[in-house]
Amino acid sequence: MNDKIQHLLDEIRKASALNADEVEQIRLKFLSKKGLISVLFDEFKTVPAEKKREVGLLLNDLKSKAQERIDELKARFDGVEEKAAAGLDLTRPVVNSQPGTRHPLSVVRNQIIDIFARIGFTVAEGPEIEDDWHNFGALNFAADHPARDMQDTFFISTNPEILLRTHTSSVQIRTMEESSPPLRMIFPGRVFRNEAISARAHCIFHQVEGLYIARNVSFADLKQTLLYFAKEMFGEQTQIRLRPSYFPFTEPSGEMDVSCLICGGKGCNICKYSGWVEILGCGMVNPAVLENCGIDPDEYTGFAFGMGIERITMLKYQIKDLRLFFENDVRFLKQFTGAL
Ligand code: PHE
Repeated sequence: MNDKIQHLLDEIRKASALNADEVEQIRLKFLSKKGLISVLFDEFKTVPAEKKREVGLLLNDLKSKAQERIDELKARFDGVEEKAAAGLDLTRPVVNSQPGTRHPLSVVRNQIIDIFARIGFTVAEGPEIEDDWHNFGALNFAADHPARDMQDTFFISTNPEILLRTHTSSVQIRTMEESSPPLRMIFPGRVFRNEAISARAHCIFHQVEGLYIARNVSFADLKQTLLYFAKEMFGEQTQIRLRPSYFPFTEPSGEMDVSCLICGGKGCNICKYSGWVEILGCGMVNPAVLENCGIDPDEYTGFAFGMGIERITMLKYQIKDLRLFFENDVRFLKQFTGAL
């Protein structure tokens, strides 16, 4: 008798069901009037008097365990039929869905926006289709400047005054024309140049422009702002170096290098064994540009800078071919899962 009870106990423990019908089958098998447990209760009458207490306890325990197990199984399918009737199938295996990922250029653009937001820079945007004045004229480009050549710039064929902006510096002009200092803003956006597509160049790329106009802004402010940016972007140990350069809209102008984040300045193939990599152009806003926008250069000074998002992203993630950003190969894009 004890063995039989133990055997049923094992069986009930292992019982499983795929739907409510199967649960009912189990209930009938064990707990109905003619079920296996009732049969044991019948047999109980034949148990000798001195064993009745012990076997009785085991038998009652078996019955309550069986009831518990069946209640548990029943609960799993509670309401399932109603849900199935409503078109929901709770037993269906979960589909392994692929969450979307942010494009690496968006990840880095958002980081840049974040870094400058922390020191009070707000964000604005301007149009990708520009006129000659905002892209060149107001920025102090001479009429015969080579950048105005068709080789470098996409012009609209029916109207040479209209073009695809070649840099986000055009948004500096729009902002200064529309609002008065103090201004502390960045302008992310897409720019276009008539370049042959290769691993290092593309005819479409992305920049973030920065502009700070107020009273008494100095080159030291520019340098401090860029050092802060470089450390936030590439790590606390990062150093910067400014080299003299030329842009018609800044005076003086510079190009900024950061210490190579791959080799830390020792020299590697990323920095072409120089220890430094160039990431942006910058300078003090040329007084002629301020005047073009109706800002008094005797009262206000300012700085501007412009960086390429592709270049920074390639450095950060060690991406060797620029074309990967535009091919939208999921094997490439998937690697940025989880990035903001
Ligand atoms: N517009 C320049 C370029 O595209 C970068 C730049 C921006 C330089 C602002 C100085 C100041 O190369």
